[in-house]
Amino acid sequence: MMTVTYYGHSCLSFAGKDSLLLVDPYLRDNPQVETFPEHLAPTMIFVTHGHWDHLGDAVEISKAHQAPIVTTPEVADYCAQQGASTLPMNLGGRMQTDFGSVKMVPAWHTSSVGKTDRVSRGMASGFVIHLDGFVIYHAGDTALFGDMALIGEEAPIDLACLPIGDRFTMGVEDAAKAVRLLGARRVVPIHYNTWPMIAQDPKQFKDAVGDVAECVIMPPGSTFDLR
Ligand code: NI
Ligand code: MN
Repeated sequence: MMTVTYYGHSCLSFAGKDSLLLVDPYLRDNPQVETFPEHLAPTMIFVTHGHWDHLGDAVEISKAHQAPIVTTPEVADYCAQQGASTLPMNLGGRMQTDFGSVKMVPAWHTSSVGKTDRVSRGMASGFVIHLDGFVIYHAGDTALFGDMALIGEEAPIDLACLPIGDRFTMGVEDAAKAVRLLGARRVVPIHYNTWPMIAQDPKQFKDAVGDVAECVIMPPGSTFDLR
């Protein structure tokens, strides 16, 4: 069994037998949740790209719990300069871990660090995480792309976390196409309703997915068990 928790925006945690994996920990400033970084003790942190709504509190959490940050070399350098421990990866690469493995996959998006003077930091990414035998795809921020079919071809996806907010990422229609390309069994919509600019009705997404996959709409702060 694996427990999935949604902290709003693109932040989720996946709790396996001996690991707690935290992705895109945008917590302290996140208007959707009242979870504070000090309440989380992950064993590994994943950051899809440098944007502040994804890097979030990663450095602070990493330092507090000696949890390494898995991210691109450019964002890893930034995190290491702030005192975090890092495990840099790049697109297409896989890393074996004690819970299984992680592969960094492409995302069509930009990557930078900083809120007022965005300095470019490499490229954006997604992750395919094999955790205790479960296959999770976290798309990060991305446009729709046809090579999602290759990601789905490699291993059957138990859970896909896909942005639906539009404007900065895929919207509802494109994300529903992504579910088809990926052949994912289950999908959780993310990166919506955090701010008015990315307001979306997740039920519209669920309707667009139809019976292609099970669509799990997770209110921020909610949890479900994957079996
Ligand atoms: Ni972004
Ligand atoms: Mn974003």
